[in-house]
Amino acid sequence: MKILLIGSGGREHAIARSCVSSTSVERLYCAPGNPGINTIAEKTDIDINNHKEVIEFCQEHEIDLVIVGPEQPLADGISDALRIAGIKVFGPSKAAARLESSKGYAKDIMQRYNIPTAAYRKFTHTNKDEAIEYLRNHSTPVVVKADGLAAGKGVVVAETTDEAISAVLEMFDGMFGAAGASAVIEEFLTGEEASVFALCDGTSFVTLAPAQDHKRALDGDLGKNTGGMGSFAPARVVNEVVLNKIHTQVIAPLLQGMQTENAPFVGCLFVGLMIDNNEPRVVEFNARFGDPETQSVLSVFEGDLPKLLHSCAVGAIDPTCVTSTANGVACTVVLASKGYPDSFEKGFPITGILDAEKKAIVYHAGTTIKNNMLVTNGGRVLGVTAVRETLSNAIETAYSAMESITFENKYFRTDIGKKGLQHE
Ligand code: AMP
Ligand code: GLY
Repeated sequence: MKILLIGSGGREHAIARSCVSSTSVERLYCAPGNPGINTIAEKTDIDINNHKEVIEFCQEHEIDLVIVGPEQPLADGISDALRIAGIKVFGPSKAAARLESSKGYAKDIMQRYNIPTAAYRKFTHTNKDEAIEYLRNHSTPVVVKADGLAAGKGVVVAETTDEAISAVLEMFDGMFGAAGASAVIEEFLTGEEASVFALCDGTSFVTLAPAQDHKRALDGDLGKNTGGMGSFAPARVVNEVVLNKIHTQVIAPLLQGMQTENAPFVGCLFVGLMIDNNEPRVVEFNARFGDPETQSVLSVFEGDLPKLLHSCAVGAIDPTCVTSTANGVACTVVLASKGYPDSFEKGFPITGILDAEKKAIVYHAGTTIKNNMLVTNGGRVLGVTAVRETLSNAIETAYSAMESITFENKYFRTDIGKKGLQHE
């Protein structure tokens, strides 16, 4: 198989690694990739926002499968353009990707198909007063979400009514541009969060090892929301009973519902959940693999991932491509630039990766090459993933491996994986 992988983050580095370890893959191209991905895949300079250019590349290079990593190209309809051109793609249509690109749409779908989630109401900037009135009568905490894609920043868990009102007013005033012209106001859910990825062919699915992310910037789940500061998998809070409920109460009815809506879901359905007393409720859907969960999930996956994704893309999922979803336990510690998720400096030389790789896998996220040197180039710079037999060993190894890596303003959380130890 010849594969084109779209994206440039740690998630795509993990997908690339799974691709090159498969005997089904003859060639792997990436657009745009990153310095880590580019050591195992062939970099192309096509503009991923230009669908015509992507299609021409695929035709010229006889691409058998396109794997789309990030949400924006999906929301922009890259999968539809490729399918129309007869190119196989692992990634949902623009219509199905609305499960991520419109929170209001996702809530309506969940309500229509009886999928357990928080109670909610939708408002647009034209009925601002109604939204305020609704918040005045709502208990706190309460959750206010911008409807559209806001790079993970469009969600405010408000402790007070005033905070909630300010949040909704800021959204309606254009803080997130068009993404905030509508908002969802929803009930606050308690419990433990987890992420489950379902690989879907439109009608059937297989789930990968459940994972947990660490979204806040600081230890103890304090500080601002980030893209994710670390992950581990499998997450035992999703035990067999819970996973079974997620299959039957969430993923199966959703796939059925999306068919009814004429928007069958082909790709990775990311189910973000709150689990309370073994009862899962959906916090969000994403239409793609999660980052940094994927780095952990794919590091313990055993089987032929690219063949599995191809089988989804052709509408005939082949579960025999999975040997084991969790061969060991993985812990991923993200090394970030101090200041992230706000402003931070870039361009600092990175050393010590080869040493770290003696014990762990190092996934590149925000790195680049400048004057022949590897330097920092983003908020999340690297992910260090260790796989061991137990979570505590995986945590210990990931932290000891990342000690060898140095760059100025290196910042990381010191408690990644800790919340999983209680379930071991
Ligand atoms: P989202 O982008 O929808 O995943 O929201 C970002 C984060 O806000 C989630 O990971 C949760 O930690 C939190 N959150 C979102 N919705 C709720 C909710 N209904 N109850 C409690 N926390 C929530
Ligand atoms: N780690 C959360 C996300 O990918 O959205």
